[in-house]
Amino acid sequence: MLKLFTPRSLISTVRCTARAYSAPVKSLTVDGKTYPSDEWTNIPPFILDLIQRKLHKNPDHPIGILHDLVKKSMNGMGYTIYDEFHPIVTKFQNFDVLGFPEDHPGRSKSDTYYFNKEHLLRTHTSAHEHECFQDCKTPGYLITADVYRKDEIDRTHYPAFHQLEGARYWSRLEPNYLEKIQQDIDSIPKTNIIVEDPFRDQPITENNPKQTYMTPEEVRLVATHLKKTIEYLVNQVFENARESAKKAGSTEPYLNEPLKVRWVEAYFPWTGPSWEIEVWWKGEWLECCGCGIVQRQVLLNSQLGEDKISWAFGIGLDRIAMLLFGIPDIRLFWSLDERFHKQFKRGEISTFAPYSKYPGVKRDVSFWLPSESTLHCNDVMEIVRSHAGDMAESVEVVDEFVHPKTGRKSQCYRINYQSMERNLTNQEINVIHGNVENDLTTRFDVEIR
Ligand code: DAH
Repeated sequence: MLKLFTPRSLISTVRCTARAYSAPVKSLTVDGKTYPSDEWTNIPPFILDLIQRKLHKNPDHPIGILHDLVKKSMNGMGYTIYDEFHPIVTKFQNFDVLGFPEDHPGRSKSDTYYFNKEHLLRTHTSAHEHECFQDCKTPGYLITADVYRKDEIDRTHYPAFHQLEGARYWSRLEPNYLEKIQQDIDSIPKTNIIVEDPFRDQPITENNPKQTYMTPEEVRLVATHLKKTIEYLVNQVFENARESAKKAGSTEPYLNEPLKVRWVEAYFPWTGPSWEIEVWWKGEWLECCGCGIVQRQVLLNSQLGEDKISWAFGIGLDRIAMLLFGIPDIRLFWSLDERFHKQFKRGEISTFAPYSKYPGVKRDVSFWLPSESTLHCNDVMEIVRSHAGDMAESVEVVDEFVHPKTGRKSQCYRINYQSMERNLTNQEINVIHGNVENDLTTRFDVEIR
């Protein structure tokens, strides 16, 4: 997945310059609200359909089961639960209030679905930090929601997925607030996980500086509370998975290894210092959650007052749910097939039993790009998905070269069309593939070879 929050130093090299799709309709109406289109509008209809699904609210769906497990694990620890936020937010909520630089790649039309220049589909649950800080009456909150990003197409990437956001704050005006934070740290249930954290006692480094308004001791305490909370949560989720795998009779060796995590430094516009946690699971490091100490400006923007210090984190739920439930393809979460849904029950982590798979149909599309081309690989993904829907199993660049004499650039993409539910006919793929070629030609001026 393309990282949305790229370190500042990389921004100029990964910047997207894809051209806008022309606005297809005058306006889009969702849940009774109308959004006039403009040159930013780039939402295909199949994405609009996903908004209504609310998988995290379905207690018998793997995403909902995971959400409920998290809620249960954090129950009684002082967090207000928010899981009803509408996915259409403003540019202000998603980017500006969090201090995203104007030229951040996450803002581009190649990465984000816009209704118009002011409204978009949230790309992360952090879009609701501002209102939750304003609204929340407890020391912390949790937000679960569906989020949307234009992305590659493969087994682990889908333009809609789910995140869990958490935050906690303290007031420096409270007497002995540092001791209070230490007590809060001590009250987090202990775990047996093995933690690799070179930054636990010295969280401030040259690459990951503290904000000037905080003291090193405040940073150390808030960071420790943050990290122990996440370690506890990760432990709850993965231990649960382990238990249910054992109960189901699995004897895989990883089930007897202690859970191992490591902390690495990171960059997010609205936190400083920032980190990511990675979990060692079945032989690989799994990037699982970004977090950090919230920038003072975000707290001030939320009218929290000058006395607050706070942390926040964001966890992607889909990858974790795929591991926990043994789900091989992220598209299955969105399937309407009974054979998928009947396998899951509230409160239970069970292992998915694959049902028969229908063969795929591979088609290549090769073209010459115009000079000054602005075609971005996400645009090709998007076009394929808008014609093929969930029949777009994967799209990859298989060839790319520059003609030695003319200097023209050629690309070839390979598309695998495949359905989870039925056999596809050559005839229907021809129509879809023809539409993909047409769209590429009319929108991006490519010359099909
Ligand atoms: N919003 C980030 C993402 O989508 C995750 C994240 C990172 C959330 C740091 C946070 C945070 O609250 O502090 O990748």
